[in-house]
Amino acid sequence: MFVSKAAVVGAGTMGGEIAQTIAAAGFRVVVKDVEQGFVDQGLEKAREVTRGQLRGLVEKGRLSEEEAESRADETVGLIEGTTEYEGLGDVDFVVEAVPERIDLKRRVFAELDEVTPGHAVLASNTSSLSIAEMGRATSRPDKVVGFHYFFPASVMRLIEVIEGEGTTSEETMDAAANFAQAIRKQPIRCGEAPGFVVNRVLIAAISEVWRVQDAHDIDPKEIDKVISESGAAPMGPFFLSDLLGLDTVLHVAEHLSESDGGERFFVSPKMKELVASGHLGQKTGRGFYDHPG
Ligand SMILES: NC(=O)c1ccc[n+]([C@@H]2O[C@H](COP(=O)([O-])OP(=O)(O)OC[C@H]3O[C@@H](n4cnc5c(N)ncnc54)[C@H](O)[C@@H]3O)[C@@H](O)[C@H]2O)c1
Repeated sequence: MFVSKAAVVGAGTMGGEIAQTIAAAGFRVVVKDVEQGFVDQGLEKAREVTRGQLRGLVEKGRLSEEEAESRADETVGLIEGTTEYEGLGDVDFVVEAVPERIDLKRRVFAELDEVTPGHAVLASNTSSLSIAEMGRATSRPDKVVGFHYFFPASVMRLIEVIEGEGTTSEETMDAAANFAQAIRKQPIRCGEAPGFVVNRVLIAAISEVWRVQDAHDIDPKEIDKVISESGAAPMGPFFLSDLLGLDTVLHVAEHLSESDGGERFFVSPKMKELVASGHLGQKTGRGFYDHPG
């Protein structure tokens, strides 16, 4: 495995747990965000997830309390935080997890190109945007690849490894797929059609629910109740969107809707209103639901 140290850029809903998946497999990892408070939240998330996983092993009798404690210290000790690009000068693999906006991602990729060694693979956790466009913001588009985790990153095994159209090399695709396996994930290789594989299907299905909700002005909680109680899914799409972050879901839905002229993909006006008022779901305490604390 060519990776001995990795980095994660963006320590929000996804970043902290992504760092945890890397450290839990024994790799050193630096986590970068723009403010110390965000870095601390990401590190705290990584600690909490690590403790939770080890507690599970203690309960099953597979580890003693002492072993779990020392394993947790070891894993968390592999993660460091920064608000600058300190510690990225010797990384081999970077996962970018900043908000889903192509202008921001291109800026971050241009910066990563400056601060990381030339051999490093620069990967994006984007849910829908073009890998080739991000690659073209760097001097190494062949080493830029999609590396799309699913929420929650510490639990979901799948990672979409996405080839930038006409840019990502086969060697980089192999390196990313190998790294996914090294951190005990299941890679699936795909091209960069908007939404890739999973979100293309998921957002198409949720779009229909948004369309029905809007056309008949149904209470989103009622729809969620029908879906979860019928056993069609473990939770309804409105609650799920709150957990994922309404701004993120909105960006993905808008991108998909633009890509097909709005035929299949519909953007929920109610979600747009919530995002415009700063209600982004669980991360801000309010979305379709209230999330106290
Ligand atoms: N939320 C999900 O369920 C989910 C699932 C899969 C993929 N994704 C993708 O992961 C990416 C991140 O999504 P998220 O939900 O974690 O977003 P988020 O808004 O919760 O977190 C983004 C973090 O990036 C930080 N950031 C902004 N600019 C930065 C910069 N220049 N340098 C470093 N950090 C910066 C922000 O401060 C914030 O902490 C998006 O591309 C999204 O599409 C999200």
